[in-house]
Amino acid sequence: MLTKANIEHEKLNPDSPFFKNALAPTCDESALLSLLDNLGKLPAGFNGELFIPLLMHTNPKIRMLAAKNIGKLKDEKFLTELSQLASTEKNTFARREVISAIGRLRSEKAITILTQSLADVDPKVVLQALRGLLYLKEKPEVQTALDSLSEHPNELIREHLANEVKNRSTRSPGRKKDQHHPSSPDPLKNVIVYADVQETLKIIPDESIHLTFTSPPYYNARDYTIYQSYEAYLDFLTAIFKEIHRMTKEGRFFVLNTSPVIVPRLSRAHSSRRYAIPYDIHPRLTDIGWEFIDDIVWTKPDYAAKNRNGGFFQHRKPLGYKANSVTESVMVYRKKTDKLIDWNIRQYDEDTVEASKVMGEYEKTNLWHINPATDKVHPAVFPPELAARIVRFYSFKGDLVFDPFAGSGTVGHVALTHERHFLLCEKEAEYIERAEQLLDVALFTHAKPRVLSLTELKSEFAERNHNL
Ligand SMILES: C[S@@+](CC[C@H](N)C(=O)[O-])C[C@H]1O[C@@H](n2cnc3c(N)ncnc32)[C@H](O)[C@@H]1O
Repeated sequence: MLTKANIEHEKLNPDSPFFKNALAPTCDESALLSLLDNLGKLPAGFNGELFIPLLMHTNPKIRMLAAKNIGKLKDEKFLTELSQLASTEKNTFARREVISAIGRLRSEKAITILTQSLADVDPKVVLQALRGLLYLKEKPEVQTALDSLSEHPNELIREHLANEVKNRSTRSPGRKKDQHHPSSPDPLKNVIVYADVQETLKIIPDESIHLTFTSPPYYNARDYTIYQSYEAYLDFLTAIFKEIHRMTKEGRFFVLNTSPVIVPRLSRAHSSRRYAIPYDIHPRLTDIGWEFIDDIVWTKPDYAAKNRNGGFFQHRKPLGYKANSVTESVMVYRKKTDKLIDWNIRQYDEDTVEASKVMGEYEKTNLWHINPATDKVHPAVFPPELAARIVRFYSFKGDLVFDPFAGSGTVGHVALTHERHFLLCEKEAEYIERAEQLLDVALFTHAKPRVLSLTELKSEFAERNHNL
């Protein structure tokens, strides 16, 4: 069995007959696949002709890997063979690789085949052709071909093109440090706003929050708030999450904890009604401009679930089965941007990035086993462990973390203990009092938490603006 070390060793000696023998099309398929897959970077002068017969191999994976290796050589002399394969290849994976290899040539001679590939049925092939053509976009025929894609049905293709146009006008600022990114307005730091969230959000300036983690009211399942209808409830949340989008800094995260709820039946003659909140709110969030990142499932122990299958346990008849719900959704979104996560990380100085690293053991899957928490005042609090994971994974030290439906203030408490600032909003006096108690303890090294009314928050901003 050939190891990577053997292959590297053979690459040092380009005149040896090793590759001629090992890349012969008559070789065993699995040996060929393994060699092609592990060739890595090819040395200058590597004999690319050895891959040509493999472009006609009966195994599409071998054709694909042969094209990939030819692509590494970036040698125009292979354009004819690659173009022939691009026009006849039925396997889309192989076709993508061939088009990618052609794009890497950055050759004007490739414009025809790349332009033809823009009509491919596989959007990933089109994307490869598009990437190749972008290197040649100064040519008028390429520009015409790219313009024809602006109405393409595939969203990734349209976005790629739109970003290209946007980046063209803002090429260098896109890579520069934004001095304001790590900072947030002082009047919002370590504050609990005692008010309705809808009014509170109106006061908060654009792009002032780094992370939001929240669990909104569960429709009419508990009695914090009663909504006229499920639609009215979803509309209420949508308006709030739209405002949070406005307040969130570029490329930063919004994490939402919800789960389906049951509104109990009126009588034995009726059935209960289940509302799939996470699924119903998701399309509204993406419409606002939140990009879906992850679906984390928070799992609780069996004892934490309300028992729904007492009846089924007795009768065991099909259709009557009801699963006890031990999970909640923790949906992770990012404010949509064409900038990569790396851009966000680069906005911080090295010390902050180093100090914010998530060290030690951490959960690697999207299944988070965490026991629920209880509180003597609030009926539905976050387990601190859940909030701590979100804060550590999705914010840096010194960031401002927001919870618009703060309850007992778990997010604030956790933000402080992880050296972030918090901003909370809650409309019930008894929960505000509870949050104050809990935060007082956490704030022993800082100032006291400030509970502000809307008027007080407004005047803090007015004073700040006056002093600027
Ligand atoms: C599910 S609880 C959040 C509990 C919180 N995660 C904790 O750890 O304590 C939702 C909270 O939202 C609050 N709330 C509901 N509607 C609100 C509104 N319009 N404005 C402000 N707070 C609201 C409720 O009073 C409740 O405390």
